[in-house]
Amino acid sequence: MARILITSAIPYINGIKHLGNLVGSQLPADLFARYMRGRGHEVMFICATDEHGTPAELAAAKAGKPVAEYCAEMHDVQAEIARGFRLSFDHFGRSSSQRNHTLTQHFAGALDKAGLIAEVSEKQVFSIDDNRFLPDRYITGTCPNCGNTSARGDQCEECTKQLDPTDLINPRSSISGSTNLEVRETKHLYLRQRSLRDKLEAWIDSKKDWPILTTSIAKKWLNDGDGLQDRGITRDLHWGIPVKKGDQPWPGMEGKVFYVWFDAPIEYIAGTAEWADANGLGDEAWQRWWRTDKGASDVTYYQFMGKDNVPFHTLSFPATILGSAEPWKLVDYLKSFNYLNYDGGQFSTSQGRGVFMDQALSILPADYWRWWLLSHAPESADSEFTWENFQASVNKDLADVLGNLVSRVTKFATAKFGNTVPAEGEFGPQETALIADLGARIKDYAALMEAMEVRKAAAELRAIWVIGNEYLQSAAPWTVVKTDPERAQAMVRLALNLIRIYAILSRPFIPDAAATMMAAMGSDDWTWPEDISAAMRALPAGQPFAVPENLFRKITDEERADWQTRFAGVRT
Ligand code: MF3
Ligand code: ZN
Repeated sequence: MARILITSAIPYINGIKHLGNLVGSQLPADLFARYMRGRGHEVMFICATDEHGTPAELAAAKAGKPVAEYCAEMHDVQAEIARGFRLSFDHFGRSSSQRNHTLTQHFAGALDKAGLIAEVSEKQVFSIDDNRFLPDRYITGTCPNCGNTSARGDQCEECTKQLDPTDLINPRSSISGSTNLEVRETKHLYLRQRSLRDKLEAWIDSKKDWPILTTSIAKKWLNDGDGLQDRGITRDLHWGIPVKKGDQPWPGMEGKVFYVWFDAPIEYIAGTAEWADANGLGDEAWQRWWRTDKGASDVTYYQFMGKDNVPFHTLSFPATILGSAEPWKLVDYLKSFNYLNYDGGQFSTSQGRGVFMDQALSILPADYWRWWLLSHAPESADSEFTWENFQASVNKDLADVLGNLVSRVTKFATAKFGNTVPAEGEFGPQETALIADLGARIKDYAALMEAMEVRKAAAELRAIWVIGNEYLQSAAPWTVVKTDPERAQAMVRLALNLIRIYAILSRPFIPDAAATMMAAMGSDDWTWPEDISAAMRALPAGQPFAVPENLFRKITDEERADWQTRFAGVRT
């Protein structure tokens, strides 16, 4: 039994996430966590809300609420929707937690002790009418690169160019719209990650098994321009983690907070500490996942994220960890994703374009979405959600292939032999062949799941469902029963066992349907079918079973057309 630590990139607090966000981090992380638990490993799966920074403050202002109150409410909303999608976090924390305050300040202190923090005086835009500095998104203006008149201080969304607030032409405050601005001197802390460049490069080069998407992004940032830049890790904001050296004040930094991208990944660790607190456990309970001097050296750590997050996880966060010179666990495997597009364009939170997580659950249960999203995960390239494709996948894979098999077998068995697993007859060559085929395919499926090849694993699972249908089609117990009822009983017994095995294999993808299938077979034995021959005989003769409610319904053309129109516009 291995110990497996899994984190998903933590979603920003400002609003409900869309399906593109979901499939890029939380959902594949959940798939992997469920699979690893199913194989009997000890899993710690952590996620949280990312609550600091200008997006949180601006969203709170827009909602007319104090930012702390806004974050607390939105955290609960996101947690509820995560439960709706059956995301099986061991803990869903908050980057604004006391644990994260303490740990973030601790890391800053350790980095300072290691000589890796520089105090830099720099020029920042100050709004006289708002009486505050305007970092990042607090300032809007014309992009010097493309002329977009509503570029934000950190980035132009039109041409994607990374900006500095002082680059903007005709700048104005995003809060009040005021143009009564001036440039003032202010002091900030910089993490001297440049001096860690060689260490970081050696570490990345040692990761021979990382996907190319991950290493190519990391390398690009390491080598672009004049190499890794030192980065500012503090901001002139009120909301955030106050700048301190451990528990000591930081002279000259009063009233400032850490930059959101400094504290957010530390929340992976803090979230595990929150988990321990929530379960009444001591510090050793979370430290054995994170401190290599306290038992974490036998942990394998996997991170899941969209490609835009890769630089922060291959360079910035490792710089924090390595720079601290303390024995913290570094990531072992980083799985990153491309983007999911929506019906000929992009999903966009700021423009409200696409299907958002709450909307998705309001029209269909989680399993339908989980199956489509995972089986179309944007791994090797960007992928696209279309309603036609969604309808076709659900109707074919879930309703026609899996759902149909379950309902046909249980209904036929009940009609002919009653509601218990029939005892007569022996497995013949057809059954032996199916069992052998299944055994080989389950091995392939397991290898793909272990390698986090999400799409290929979904395709293999679908193939496993298909061979069950093909077997039934050719064995045709409904014909055989007329001449050889004992043979038909053996076929039905096999098919009922197949349903139980399908429940186990399918559970990481479609947990609710899997639970229904397992319960219908009167079993609660989720042991992975390592020994396939034994697994195909696991349900004892005479065991009661039930005909489950229709597992999956089909999406009609009318519904598809209706949803297409309903979600064509912009969410307000
Ligand atoms: N909130 C960020 C995003 O949605 C992800 C933060 S991941 C972490 O892009 F590393 F900061 F935790
Ligand atoms: Zn631009």
